[in-house]
Amino acid sequence: MILPDTPATDDGLLTRILSGPPIPRHVAIIMDGNGRWAERRGLPRTAGHRAGVTAVKHVVTAAAQANVEALTLFTFSVDNWGRPKREISAIMQLLYETTKNELREMADKNIRLIATGDIEGLPLTRRRALKEAIRKTSDNTGLVLNLALNYSGRAEILHAVRRVARAVLARELRIDDIDEPTFAAHLQTNGLPDPDLLIRTSGEQRLSNFLLWQTSYTELYVTDTLWPDFGKDDFFRAILDYQSRERRFGRVSPSRS
Ligand code: IPE
Ligand code: IPE
Ligand code: MG
Repeated sequence: MILPDTPATDDGLLTRILSGPPIPRHVAIIMDGNGRWAERRGLPRTAGHRAGVTAVKHVVTAAAQANVEALTLFTFSVDNWGRPKREISAIMQLLYETTKNELREMADKNIRLIATGDIEGLPLTRRRALKEAIRKTSDNTGLVLNLALNYSGRAEILHAVRRVARAVLARELRIDDIDEPTFAAHLQTNGLPDPDLLIRTSGEQRLSNFLLWQTSYTELYVTDTLWPDFGKDDFFRAILDYQSRERRFGRVSPSRS
């Protein structure tokens, strides 16, 4: 079995989520702490990345159960190329194995795989497997699973600026018509709503160049749990926490107006 079907240990969490809207439409996760998880066990960092794949499977299942529309997982950043070669190739190998092994399961679970980032900058065989999985799941109508791969928030914004500038030069767009929706349509996440909730594991309180434009009003949830230890219940708790918040978008609470 690949995507685990195991119920949450505390089934009540899911029931509470489903009975107490709003459900976040788009959840983004900075999956951090694989290295520390392994180091604490005296294992190589790559063992942490492998264990992290199991957490991904649990969270994908949980997101689908909670009726989340889109789940974006920060899988590999442009800045991660600065890591030791051995670690990078282990991560790429895991990406390859996982996209291949999970394809059938994604099809069965109606999951649509997409990717955000500079996919052309990934090694050829990894890129091919990823593109094949994206193509084969493209008609699915359930959870959108978005892998942020070779992703940098600043690079994405620059890329959008260049595309907009080209459209202006080609007289397809007038400078005065460049508004927020027009600009956002040139980002790599075009088509996805902005994340409602951003989860970061392992306690770090920073964005690390993730979705800089899209997270202007995203609710943040940081947990000390390391990514390989993050399970369905942790995901459900993050959503319940989100449901207890008041999003004001710069305005005042209706009860105070
Ligand atoms: C996150 O875990 C996975 C990737 C960045 C690919 P880390 O590898 O960053 O784990 P820590 O932060 O070193 O513990
Ligand atoms: C962010 O985590 C990138 C991913 C989870 C893929 P990092 O571990 O690379 O970020 P920093 O170095 O702690 O800021
Ligand atoms: Mg890290």
